Amino acid sequence: MVNCKELISKMTLEEKASLLSGKDIWETKTVERFELPTVVLSDGPHGVRRQVGAGDHLGLNDSLPATCFPTAATIANSWDPSIAEMIGKCIGEEAIAQGVGVVLGPSMNMKRSPLCGRNFEYYSEDPYLCGKIAAGEVKGIQSNGISACPKHYAVNSQELRRMSSDSIIDERTLREIYLAAFEIVVKEAKPRSLMSSYNRVNGIYASENEKLLQNILRDEWGFDGFVVTDWGGSNNHVESVRTGNHLEMPTTGGDSDRELVEAVRNGALDEEILDKRVEEMLKIIYEVQPALKGNKGQGMKEEEHHKAAQKAAAESIVLLKNEEKLLPLAKGCKVAVIGDFAKTPRYQGAGSSIVNCTKLDNTVDVIKDFDLNMLGFEQGYERNGKVDAQMQQAAMELAKQAEVVLFYMGLDEISETEGLDRTHMAIPHNQITLLSRLSKANKNVVAVISAGSAIEMPWIQNCKAVVHGYLGGQAQAGAILEVLTGQVCPSGKLSETLPVKCEDNPAHNYFPGKYYNAEYREGLFIGYRYYEKAEVPVLFPFGFGLSYTTFAYSDLEINGQEVSFTLANTGEVDGAEVAQLYIGARNSKVYRAVKELKGFTKVFLKSGEIKRVTITLDDKAFRYFNAGNNAWEIEEGDYDILIGASSADIRLKDNIHVDGTSATVWYDKEAMEVYESGKIQNVSDEAFAALLGHDIPDGHWNENGILNVNDALCQMYYAKSGLARFAYKVLTGIKNRSEEKGVPNLNVLFIYNMPFRGIAKMTNGIITMEMANQMVRMVNGHFWSGMKGFVGGYFRNRKAQKRTK
Ligand code: BGC
Repeated sequence: MVNCKELISKMTLEEKASLLSGKDIWETKTVERFELPTVVLSDGPHGVRRQVGAGDHLGLNDSLPATCFPTAATIANSWDPSIAEMIGKCIGEEAIAQGVGVVLGPSMNMKRSPLCGRNFEYYSEDPYLCGKIAAGEVKGIQSNGISACPKHYAVNSQELRRMSSDSIIDERTLREIYLAAFEIVVKEAKPRSLMSSYNRVNGIYASENEKLLQNILRDEWGFDGFVVTDWGGSNNHVESVRTGNHLEMPTTGGDSDRELVEAVRNGALDEEILDKRVEEMLKIIYEVQPALKGNKGQGMKEEEHHKAAQKAAAESIVLLKNEEKLLPLAKGCKVAVIGDFAKTPRYQGAGSSIVNCTKLDNTVDVIKDFDLNMLGFEQGYERNGKVDAQMQQAAMELAKQAEVVLFYMGLDEISETEGLDRTHMAIPHNQITLLSRLSKANKNVVAVISAGSAIEMPWIQNCKAVVHGYLGGQAQAGAILEVLTGQVCPSGKLSETLPVKCEDNPAHNYFPGKYYNAEYREGLFIGYRYYEKAEVPVLFPFGFGLSYTTFAYSDLEINGQEVSFTLANTGEVDGAEVAQLYIGARNSKVYRAVKELKGFTKVFLKSGEIKRVTITLDDKAFRYFNAGNNAWEIEEGDYDILIGASSADIRLKDNIHVDGTSATVWYDKEAMEVYESGKIQNVSDEAFAALLGHDIPDGHWNENGILNVNDALCQMYYAKSGLARFAYKVLTGIKNRSEEKGVPNLNVLFIYNMPFRGIAKMTNGIITMEMANQMVRMVNGHFWSGMKGFVGGYFRNRKAQKRTK
């Protein structure tokens, strides 16, 4: 066992500082004279994206082939941490085979709005479910001896200006909703590393937020790994290191290292803190080495992992509708397969999570392995929304001949991408028109949906059955056919609410944040917590999913922390049921959701089988965060214990009395009436300020004003420099054209939302922070003096780089 402390005591200040930023885009640095090992970090989260050629953090350049598992939004629908663990284990094996010691995932941000462009990568609107499933994945990855890296810590639920936006959130919501999933993961799965997010949280960048990184993560939760910035997300490296963020990625060519050295020399950073960060990080780098050395050459287990991906996808499929028991399809059923997605599947989202899959199944090919009579395939629609009458007609002709139409539909590529939030929840209109026509040609239409984010379904009456596959990874086609044919009895349940329409969602009036601020005015009322409290009808509730069999619940018994009941499979086929435990406080003095998920279990039962099931309540079951005394408290009183097949389908109910911690209500009930009632669609400034406990920070930028280094490039529309305004127009033009085409231009999206400082953080040290600041001067109309400073900065950088070498 290497003694890191001793090793560090022999290093020079420069050597120590150098270890806290990357060597290149993916790897950490070494100190050659000590032969320090390094580690490669790679995305994540639903497969390995190991780039060996030109690296980028947006999934643009090639990566080595790896298994593409279902995305997090899909896996959460399995409600089965062991499925996440199985996937994690496979991902870890592939990571090792490709020399990766840190897998950048899982992504754990809350689905605050259905419009967040990255929702496909996130698990749920509920922190408990998210935390438990993510813990499964982390355990799986780390069971191989390497490190998972849950991300993005924290309150990062919006893509727009993600590197400069400021999440304004009250303390209670922060703890109960946005940090709770991370808390579960850290405490239960002990990740060896964690990624801080791009955004600010209440005015302070997440990567230099002492409260998040030190007070909560380390002191309260006991995290003892290292924290890495999101790529290019560092703001002030010295402050980051001081507050508990260890590694800055990717490389800044020595610029950040020099900042650290300078800070120690001039007393701005205590050398002991620097040493501590280096030690904490080195410890993990050493810890993962045996796994990386020992297992090289074990291979990718491609076939085995493909099967695992199919199993995970099958367990996560949600049957939303099944009129007249149209499904499962009878053996030999004559089916028409219609829809572009059946041939060219959508199985993952765009951005840094893109996996170059080892193989990709499609329905038209794999249907041959199933006992169905495929009469033919028609594309039916253009993916980009263009109407093609001929394609439609051909699809209609085929539909007429079939017993059942399998219509593959969903969101196109541009709708689900890192860097771009959606503006609506509709699927392309040409698909909806075709569906309506198909339903007239054939009354037995099954809609098979591919979409990693919630969608509206005003067209649902046009299909008898709806099978929602979310984004099911490279083996999704076979998994869906397994469900359609009944080889697998569907058991997935929604990990998010599907609202009737976009305007119904609680964050609708606040998302995305208009200027700097992303104001979490809806507070605790995210997802079902809102719909239920405010009595807003939904299309499909949280936790909903049908089966080919039926389950009966009976005999609820509460014994201390143990909640037991009897579950019986009362139908004709074997299947699994996700039983959910919710808790609701009666006569609570502190405002709350009507009920909250506090436990769940997935139980497989053969037809006719009966099992006694127990769910154990944990330390989080009754607690709430009291912002008055900054502590978790329990209110004394009666609590309903509810066992349901979904959040809206409660089958068993009892109540218990719980002793409390007797804290008092800390807020002004009158000022916060909207939170008492849950009617949070139009929270006034006064009510939000009351929730925050202070004035709302002024988040406006001055459109006649000057820009600063933390302003995003898309703010150049009001720059003083005509050249900068022109650059803005060009950038916007490219962005708009790519959106029209339906193919996301990830580079442009990233640059568009990137602050000027990002130029320094993302150019391998060619541009320094000093130079970025001079660029901002130019943008602000001081072209010549800015240019002079920029050129001067360039030469100073070259000199400094030579010196460092
Ligand atoms: C993403 C991270 C990712 C990183 C490296 C960033 O743009 O936000 O999730 O891990 O790039 O690719």
